[in-house]
Amino acid sequence: MISNSQPDANGHFGPYGGCFISETLTYAINELKNAYAKYQNDPDFLAEFQNELAHYVGRPSPVYHAARTSRELGGAQIYLKREDLNHTGAHKINNVIGQAMLARRMGKPRIIAETGAGQHGVATATICARYGLQCVVYMGAEDVKRQSPNVYRMKLLGATVTPVESGSKTLKDALNEAMRDWVANVDNTFYIIGTVAGPHPYPMMVRDFQSVIGKECLTQMPKMLGAEKQPDAVIACVGGGSNAIGIFHPYIPFEKTRLIGVEAAGRGLDSGQHAASLERGSPGVLHGNRTYVLQNDDGQIIETHSISAGLDYPGVGPEHAWLKDTGRAEYVGITDTEALAAFHHLCRTEGIIPALESSHAFAHAMKIAPAMRPDQSILVCLSGRGDKDIGTVADLDGVDFYDRPSMRGHVVKGAGNGTQGPQGQ
Ligand SMILES: Cc1ncc(COP(=O)(O)O)c(C=O)c1O
Repeated sequence: MISNSQPDANGHFGPYGGCFISETLTYAINELKNAYAKYQNDPDFLAEFQNELAHYVGRPSPVYHAARTSRELGGAQIYLKREDLNHTGAHKINNVIGQAMLARRMGKPRIIAETGAGQHGVATATICARYGLQCVVYMGAEDVKRQSPNVYRMKLLGATVTPVESGSKTLKDALNEAMRDWVANVDNTFYIIGTVAGPHPYPMMVRDFQSVIGKECLTQMPKMLGAEKQPDAVIACVGGGSNAIGIFHPYIPFEKTRLIGVEAAGRGLDSGQHAASLERGSPGVLHGNRTYVLQNDDGQIIETHSISAGLDYPGVGPEHAWLKDTGRAEYVGITDTEALAAFHHLCRTEGIIPALESSHAFAHAMKIAPAMRPDQSILVCLSGRGDKDIGTVADLDGVDFYDRPSMRGHVVKGAGNGTQGPQGQ
């Protein structure tokens, strides 16, 4: 039986993980390691965490039977773990609360974070507002454009959003910039990483906070399926890998349950324009840990592409690298087009607007369900809601989001340049 007791004391998941940092970060990382070791099993800390999850986040999140979809596909029953119903609209807040509670106990008044889709940034800004902490969020300039509703949400919550103009202007560049800030401000600053990446202890600590997702499913699924049954497959999308590890980790010892991580295949796994580190990458070091990364022959990180900002990352949490090599989890790719189709299906068939990230996981469930029996089941982690993505989807569908008359070829009388919206009429 494969145990889920990893990592070792130095943060190794088999040959992956560890702590590859510059000397300037050693003090900060040791301080964090000691603080987490002190509080991770502390009854007061755990009770406060549970209380916050119950009363502020709204946990446990429900499991929903997507009955119409299951009937239409004619195979396995599909269930959705509704992380989209959490306060702030995604799984990210589970981890942010844990880390912010640690920051308070460590006496750090300033919080920094990186964000891709903006969900981690919004969750961090939210908790900083609630705890009275200063908040700075680094976000790639490209992501600032494609996730603008979340940028404004962060600002409303009192955070400073700093666009990052370097590299591909996406998540990896935001992480680089946040690391730089941390090195310069270690005394008063806590870095809340939003996924199971980074140097030890982050991959373990973020996983521990996110494992609440899978732990809830372990008790919820037998109630849905009866007779102590667990799902035949658990599927989650993988950017850095935090919602996936959150739902996978408690299931690792349940060997009859397949664990399937879905990466962004972008324009195709063989197009060179994707973010599938586990399927097309190779072992290397990125952001402080050894894992699968997308790199060229010289070890330089290569550019990624995905329709969804939250999956657009050239690395992956080291525990996933280990789960892949041991064969305990499988990793597959879903293209932009397939994710978009799944997004629309979920809107129209179940009345749920999913995040584009989560749509990748749902798309794979739709792919494999027909080949399974109706008495089998698939549990999908619906990691977030899609309000942030409706502008992107509208653009891709060629729809003018605001239905501006100018975009319909009309010129509004008296509107001057013809670009004035309905509110200006
Ligand atoms: C809704 C949603 N799902 C999934 C992800 C991917 O992150 P992770 O792989 O860490 O769960 C993100 C990242 O921003 C997200 O916003």
